[in-house]
This record gives sequence, C-alpha cells and structure tokens, in this order.
Amino acid sequence: MVGKRLLIADPDEKSRQALAVLLARWGYQTEIAETSAECLTILSRFEPSIVVIDMAIPTTGGLELVRTLRGEHPGIYCILLATRPALEPALEAIKAGAFDYLDKPIEPLRLRIVLEKISDKIGIQAEVRQLRHKLKEYGAFEGFNGNTPVMQEMFHLIEQVAPSTASVLISGPSGTGKELVAKAIHNLSPRKREPYVAINCSAIPATLLESELFGHEKGAFTGAIARKAGCFEQAHGGTLFLDEITEMPIELQSKFLRVLEERKFRRLGGKEEISVDVRVIAASNRDFQEAIRQRRLREDLYYRLNVFQIETPPLSERAEDIPLIARTFIDRFNKTNHKNIRGIDPHAEILLKSYAWPGNVRELKNTIERAVIVCDGDTITVEHLPPHITATPPRIAGPLPGQREGEQTLAIPIGMPLALVERIMIEKTLEAHGGNKTKAAKTLGISLKTIHNKLHRYRH
Ligand SMILES: Nc1ncnc2c1ncn2[C@@H]1O[C@H](COP(=O)(O)OP(=O)(O)OP(=O)(O)O)[C@@H](O)[C@H]1O
Ligand SMILES: [Mg+2]
Repeated sequence: MVGKRLLIADPDEKSRQALAVLLARWGYQTEIAETSAECLTILSRFEPSIVVIDMAIPTTGGLELVRTLRGEHPGIYCILLATRPALEPALEAIKAGAFDYLDKPIEPLRLRIVLEKISDKIGIQAEVRQLRHKLKEYGAFEGFNGNTPVMQEMFHLIEQVAPSTASVLISGPSGTGKELVAKAIHNLSPRKREPYVAINCSAIPATLLESELFGHEKGAFTGAIARKAGCFEQAHGGTLFLDEITEMPIELQSKFLRVLEERKFRRLGGKEEISVDVRVIAASNRDFQEAIRQRRLREDLYYRLNVFQIETPPLSERAEDIPLIARTFIDRFNKTNHKNIRGIDPHAEILLKSYAWPGNVRELKNTIERAVIVCDGDTITVEHLPPHITATPPRIAGPLPGQREGEQTLAIPIGMPLALVERIMIEKTLEAHGGNKTKAAKTLGISLKTIHNKLHRYRH
C-alpha cells in the first residue's frame, strides 16, 4: 500500500508501543527500531515511506539520523519527536530535512494532520510518476521539445486533434518541426499501430507523383514493369502525410480531392476500385491563402483539408526553448560522434538565444552538430559557433534619441557577459570604420596596442 508503511525509531518502549497501536488503528503497517543503526537496517528491508524519529534515539540522536536518511533516501518523509517542548529543536529539525516536528506526548489529532499532509504529497508524486510513464509509453513527443507557452499550446492542440479522424493542415516556416507535428498526431491517435506514410510532393517529379500516390498496374505506362501499391493503399487504416502540398500539380489536386471525398480510387491503368480508410495530414511552408491566390493550391482542396490547422512558430519566437532543444541535440550528436559534451557555456547560450535563426530548428541542429564535432572539451563555447552567429550582435537597433542620423546602435540583451559586450563593441566599431584599427581605437578611447591585442585574442 503506497505511503502506508511507517517505521518508528524510539528508544522508549512505552511511547513507541502506544504510537504503534494508534497507527495500526489508522491502517498503517509499522515496524520498530530502538537505535539509529537498527533503523537503517530495517529501513532497507521494510522500505517505509515515513519514519517517526525520537530526538533521543541512540547513538546518533534524531537530527543526525534525519540528515543521514535525507541524504541516502531523499524520498522518505521524517517526523521528529521531542519530549521537551522547545522552539529551537523544531527549527533544527526542519533545517535537517524533517517534514515536521511534534512534541511528546503526541497529540493524535496533530499527528493525523501531519500524516495526511504527507499522504497527499505521496499521492501527487505517484500521479506525476504515472503521467510521466504514460507519456514515455506514448513516445509521441519524444525528441520534440518545447517548454514555452506557444509550444505547450501547440502540444495541447495536437493532443486534442489526434484522437479524431479529422484532416489537419500544418503551416509554418521551414525547419520548424512540421513533420514532427504530423508524426505526433499519428502516434497519439488510435491509428498509431497502423501505417504512417509520408510523401513529399516537392521531392517527386510531377509526372511520377500520381503513380506514387495511387499506384499503378503492370504495363500502365512505360517502365511500369510490375503492379505497385501507392501511398494511399499503403496507408490504409493509418495516416497519410502529404508534405509540401502546395507543390502538388494543380490537376492532380483535383483528383486527390475526389479521392478524399469518395474514399475510393483506381490504380493507374487499373479497373478495380479500391476503398481506403486514410487520415490525411498535409503541410506547407507557404502561406495557404497566398498559395490559393497564386493558384498553387486549389481552394476547394484547402477547405476540404482545413478541418483543423496547426501553425509551428519560428524558433526566434520561442528563444527561451533554444537551450533545451540545443541540449537534446548535444545528447544526440554526443552519441553519433562518441563525445561527452555536457553543456553550453553562458556566453554561447546568450548568442544562440539572440540569433535570428532563419533556418529555425533545422539550422540550430546543424549548428550544434558542427559545434559538437569541433569541440574538444566538455562545454560548447563561443569559439565553437560559426562566425555568422558570434559576429552578429543581437540586432542593430534604430537610432536612439539624440543620436545622429545614420549612426548605428547595438541592442544588447541584459545579462550578456561584459567580455562579450566588449568584443561585439570592438568588432562592430571596427566594421563601422571599414576595418581601420587606428580610427576604431580612437573612437573607443583605447590604445592601438590594446585593440591589436584584443583582436589577436579573439581570432586565435
Ligand atoms: N521542437 C523541436 N524539438 C526538437 N527537434 C526539433 C523540433 N522542431 C524541429 N526539430 C528537428 O528539426 C529538424 C527540422 O524539422 P522538420 O523536418 O519537422 O521541419 P519542417 O517544418 O518539416 O521543415 P520543412 O518545411 O523545411 O520541411 C528535424 O530534424 C526535427 O527533428
Ligand atoms: Mg518538412
């Protein structure tokens, strides 16, 4: 029974017996220890959730025993008892790591309240463990990271839409995780054990796309040497993911729409009508409305697919997630490169967070892969990042009040290490003077020698 095993560590026979009787009445299973050593021995066999400890327990005393227990078994809740009411031991007890402190003789009501508080905590912890376990079992969001509110909102949407058979349209800039969204929807749906078939409409020549989608019979066209099942057929019972849907030839889009409506189709060159049960998810990094205007996407197909729309936000709109995502890539590339890099130093982290990431998560992934390869130590630092990231200050802001027209301003995030601020300032000033060190040094109020030394250090 979770949370119902309790160990009493008390040298006084009478008081521990009275306590054991009381606890048995409340449904606790108890064991008794007379010394600290005995307490530790019983503990490893009995595995209690709670230990009630008398301050006077030989030979260590209660406080020391609590410290030992908290160090070795942090999940166990300790309640300390003392005969003489005193404020000081109470404070000491909490500081040592006890959950609560009670005076002897014990007031049953107070003990009951403390035990109930512990039992609530144990219940919540068990629930959290269970939920974590469930998520792992799903594995749906594995490798798909994001703690920022926008990402959490998106995960929530995915969880909501997944159990239905509704079509989903995913939009968002390149490299923002549209494929991961499609896969997560499939993994969280009742179709998760059925096929997931992905096809990229821009990667397949237009002439071949039709037969890729619907399959063909032997001899349907030159080169069709055998019958082939298309993606629709392969995805039967499961999910079909059409990536870059806006790149599908417009005539094929009408046929595709018809198949979606009728849930039936023929292979190329085939007579037999094949019925399929397929859930369709489609994605594009183009703006759907714009694609309709440009006649890249049929409006009727758009409305047929757009039962539910999910937008993957650009990485720069969730910069707070960058360290988390970067860390998962470090783990991944540590494995493939047999490295043991533990993290990113604060300077490098600030630069990663302030860079604009036009290529989004894909670009971050490549950047981290490169950094892992070039890093010989155990921490990724500024020198492992490519120049376009380190040389770019957070951004060039507009002129400040009172500033002359055309004069540039650096916007530097609060918390950027001074050494880095200095480096950016020197490099940008130098740039502004067309690389003239003498002029740059003069503007910055430092000697030519200092600027030489500093530049030398940055470059080596
Ligand atoms: N939130 C995330 N956490 C971890 N990895 C991510 C995340 N988002 C994307 N990735 C990774 O970034 C890379 C690009 O993601 P994905 O291929 O899903 O992007 P996309 O939106 O489909 O891009 P495109 O429009 O160019 O096809 C993949 O390797 C993917 O695993
Ligand atoms: Mg993609």
